[in-house]
Amino acid sequence: MSERDTHRTIPLADLRQAGLSLPTGQAPVSGTGALADSLGRPLRDLRISVTDRCNFRCSYCMPKEVFDANYAYLPHASLLSFEEITRLARQFVAHGVQKIRLTGGEPLLRKNLERLIEQLANLRTLQGQPLDITLTTNGSLLARKAQSLKDAGLQRVTVSLDGLDDAVFRRMNDVDFAVADVLAGIEVARQVGLGPIKVNMVVKRASNDQEILPMARYFKGSGIVLRFIEYMDVGATNGWRMDQVVPSAEVVRRIQAELPLLALEPSAAGETAQRWGYAAAAGLHDADAGEIGVISSVTRAFCGDCNRARLSTEGKLYLCLFAQDGYDLKPLLRGAASDAALASAIGQIWQGRSDRYSELRSSLPADSGSGPRRVEMSYIGG
Ligand code: GTP
Ligand code: 5AD
Ligand code: SF4
Ligand code: SF4
Repeated sequence: MSERDTHRTIPLADLRQAGLSLPTGQAPVSGTGALADSLGRPLRDLRISVTDRCNFRCSYCMPKEVFDANYAYLPHASLLSFEEITRLARQFVAHGVQKIRLTGGEPLLRKNLERLIEQLANLRTLQGQPLDITLTTNGSLLARKAQSLKDAGLQRVTVSLDGLDDAVFRRMNDVDFAVADVLAGIEVARQVGLGPIKVNMVVKRASNDQEILPMARYFKGSGIVLRFIEYMDVGATNGWRMDQVVPSAEVVRRIQAELPLLALEPSAAGETAQRWGYAAAAGLHDADAGEIGVISSVTRAFCGDCNRARLSTEGKLYLCLFAQDGYDLKPLLRGAASDAALASAIGQIWQGRSDRYSELRSSLPADSGSGPRRVEMSYIGG
């Protein structure tokens, strides 16, 4: 049985045409790095979607029934060019962004992505440091592209991998892609120095939760950080149900039963994952064995210090993964706006931000099908 047959898929209502109005009548905001939103949260992490296409059809993200041959992807003319992306990124950096993640869809499907990475690698933070430039990929093209990505200035990669068992993996990606090819991609990424490598596994009960322990065993001691992600009610098409979520506490419990773990301190403010280290016999962290992470967007929201902004492929700025709409920056970019005006618009939008969807989720109706329809993750990126 296909993974997608096990749940209801909700058709897509196209929200991409809309756009929130840019703030008007506010004082200009220049890039000083002191920017804070209405809840006092700084802007540090910019996630840029470079394509809304993907060669996988993970049911939790791009279910086949919706993203079929008739699905209207963005036309080429509406994609931001690499120069436009870099120009915008520069303004975000002026407001304090230190990390850029390229996402999709599958970012390695965007032609000549290396040229964009070269341009982004030339940017400097307000402190004069190079940015942390990383990329989320499904790994299918990684073996072929790892070296050129590294040469272009990419520092590290995060690979999505939802199981080690070939049959389970093929069902999860729903295009019959073999797990060995992704593992080979991870290996090449390691050889060319695209590290520290992270592997992200979305855990969906009764679909791939039997892979939790095999994945932990496989990556323990490899230098690769494996992170387990709670299946989220993002977008409007995946037919999410709470009973399909495996709470992180359960993931940790299941691993602990075989591989003792101990809680580690956060390594950065605003981090998505809680870190757990493999314990040595004496109960101390065995650094050689490494660590895992759990990302608990459903059971333990981390909106309190969320410093992430998302830029869609066509130039809309989204302030939350669960937003219904974004602010269209393309008219400014393709009009006569100066860099200062662009930076000011970004600053004003961020200052007005009050999003904290995951924290509020528990007070919303349990059925994700009701209420306002949210943008798809394949469109704004993870
Ligand atoms: P590192 O810098 O490598 O630690 O990356 P990261 O954890 O900041 O980003 P990554 O894209 O690897 O995040 C992993 C997963 O966490 C995503 O695929 C999402 O499922 C989830 N996630 C990331 N950011 C957010 C967020 O802002 N809100 C929520 N609810 N989930 C998020
Ligand atoms: N729940 C949790 N994570 C998701 N991703 C996509 N859809 C979901 C979802 N419904 C994340 C996964 C994947 C990345 C591309 O996006 O981490 O690896
Ligand atoms: Fe593609 Fe990643 Fe979405 Fe899967 S989760 S469909 S690999 S973008
Ligand atoms: Fe940030 Fe929205 Fe995710 Fe909360 S739900 S952490 S505000 S992106």
